[in-house]
Parts: sequence; C-alpha cells; structure tokens
Amino acid sequence: MRMKGKRVVITGGARSIGRACAERFAEEGANVAILDVLVDRGEAAAGEIAEKYGVVCRFYECDVGTKVAVDSSIDHVIKDFGGIDVLFSNAGITRRADFLDLTEEDWDDVIRVNLKSMFLVGQKVARHMAEQGEGGAIINMSSSSVRMTMPTIAPYAASKGGISALTTAMSLSLAPHGIRVNAVGPGTIYTELNKDNLLKDVEKRREVLSRIPLMRFGEGRDVANVVLFLASEDANYITGETLYIDGGRSGLNYTLPVEEK
Ligand SMILES: NC(=O)c1ccc[n+]([C@@H]2O[C@H](COP(=O)([O-])OP(=O)(O)OC[C@H]3O[C@@H](n4cnc5c(N)ncnc54)[C@H](O)[C@@H]3O)[C@@H](O)[C@H]2O)c1
Repeated sequence: MRMKGKRVVITGGARSIGRACAERFAEEGANVAILDVLVDRGEAAAGEIAEKYGVVCRFYECDVGTKVAVDSSIDHVIKDFGGIDVLFSNAGITRRADFLDLTEEDWDDVIRVNLKSMFLVGQKVARHMAEQGEGGAIINMSSSSVRMTMPTIAPYAASKGGISALTTAMSLSLAPHGIRVNAVGPGTIYTELNKDNLLKDVEKRREVLSRIPLMRFGEGRDVANVVLFLASEDANYITGETLYIDGGRSGLNYTLPVEEK
C-alpha cells in the first residue's frame, strides 16, 4: 500500500495505459481522479476500480487541451479529494500521414491534445501543489518516438519530444516547491487499439518484435509500475528525467529472429 491515501489525477485514464495506471495506483491504496473525454468508458472504469480496490475513484469529463475545461475539472477534483499529490498526464492522440501530406489540422490537433495539455494541466495542478506546500510528483507521458520515429507520425514525435523538454523545464521551476517532474517513454505497448489495428497482422507483429530485445510487447502494467515508482518516495531524488520503457529497443541497431507463431 505504497500510495495509501494519496490523491492521484490521471488524464486519459478511461482505457488502455491510463486505465492500467489508475488500477495500479488504486491497488496501492490511492484515491484516483480520471479525466477523459470518453464518458461511458470513464464512468465504467471509475466505478469498477472503486469497487474492486475499495478506494475513491471518480470520473471527470474533460478535454485536456482546453484551458477552461482543465481549470474547472481540476477545481472539482481539489474540492472532492481535498487536494492533489500526484499527476499523471497521460492523454494523447496521433494522426498518421506522411510529412508531405500532413494538414495544419493534423498538426494542431496532436500538438493541442499531447503537448499543450501538459502545460495546461501541469501548470494548474502545480500551482495547487505549490500553494498546498506539501510537494508532489508529476509524470508526463512521452514516448520512445523521441529517440526513433517513423515518417508518418511527425506531429506525434514532435509533441513527445516537446514533452520531454517541457518536463526538464518544469522540473527546474518546481524543484524549489518540492515538486518532482519526470516523464515516461514507452515503446510498443499492447493496448486494445494496438491489438485491433497495428498488431493484428502476423507479419507486422513479427516486424515489431524483431526490434525488441526482450522479445515481447509491453503491457499497461509495465508502464504503470514505472509511473508508480516515479510517483513514490523511492524516486525522491529523481527529477527532470524521461525513463524509457521499451524492452531495450532504443539500443538495438539490428533485427532479431522471431520465433513467435
Ligand atoms: N500504446 C503505445 O504503444 C504507446 C507508446 C508510447 C506512448 N504512448 C502514449 O500513451 C498515452 C496513452 O496511449 P494509449 O495507447 O493508452 O492510447 P488510448 O487511445 O487507448 O488512450 C488515450 C486516452 O486519452 C484519452 N484522450 C484523448 N484525447 C483526449 C482529450 N482531448 N482530453 C482528455 N482525454 C483524451 C482517450 O479518450 C483515451 O482514453 C498516449 O499519450 C500515447 O501517446 C502509447
């Protein structure tokens, strides 16, 4: 129960990685606020987590790229939970198109939801934490795309690179308040979207696996364990870092034989 009584905000927590993290924090005794645009999924997740782990878990409908929505949701969380100790800014989207075909709308959508949201939610929560005077931990969701990317996800890669840079800047600004700020950069995580699209095709699965030394895709729980560590007292002397959770992928400069059927 490493997080007993801690008040944790998770954006994009209605499904996939965000939901796995909400569960992991609840499993360790935290009370969790989920902010997301998916109302049905978010309410269902909050209800199931509260019942399963006996903690407070509430859903707040919030578009994290819109300042008025962020300010209002975070004010509600502070009122309902009595404060915030941990923020995991996880919500993110992608728009796939070759660089030559990208539209301004693609660019703006991704930068708004992925990068601007980290500023909006991060600043709102950090101001509260600074005022609260008890320190805190903020974890931003980056990606292994910062280190190696593809031609079809330029705005996504740019947003994630921006998140890692923002994380360092935030960590410097917030250190005097005892607020640590770090980021996580997952490789390929086996979420429901990946299962249904990218990784459904056997050849594609093999291609991706041939570049992962640990020879398996990541699970939501692999990410959740690292986010939990960064939020915990065990990481008390770590701030401004991006930790990559990619099964060794970013160090590999060749492909591996895959035996998976
Ligand atoms: N799945 C992977 O392999 C992988 C790898 C590296 C990084 N990531 C990052 O992890 C995060 C979660 O990705 P996922 O794979 O779980 O995807 P996902 O699409 O299943 O989850 C993203 C969540 O964010 C929510 N969201 C989207 N736009 C929002 C908005 N404007 N306001 C509030 N919530 C919003 C979605 O409704 C969803 O619940 C993303 O930031 C993604 O870039 C994922």
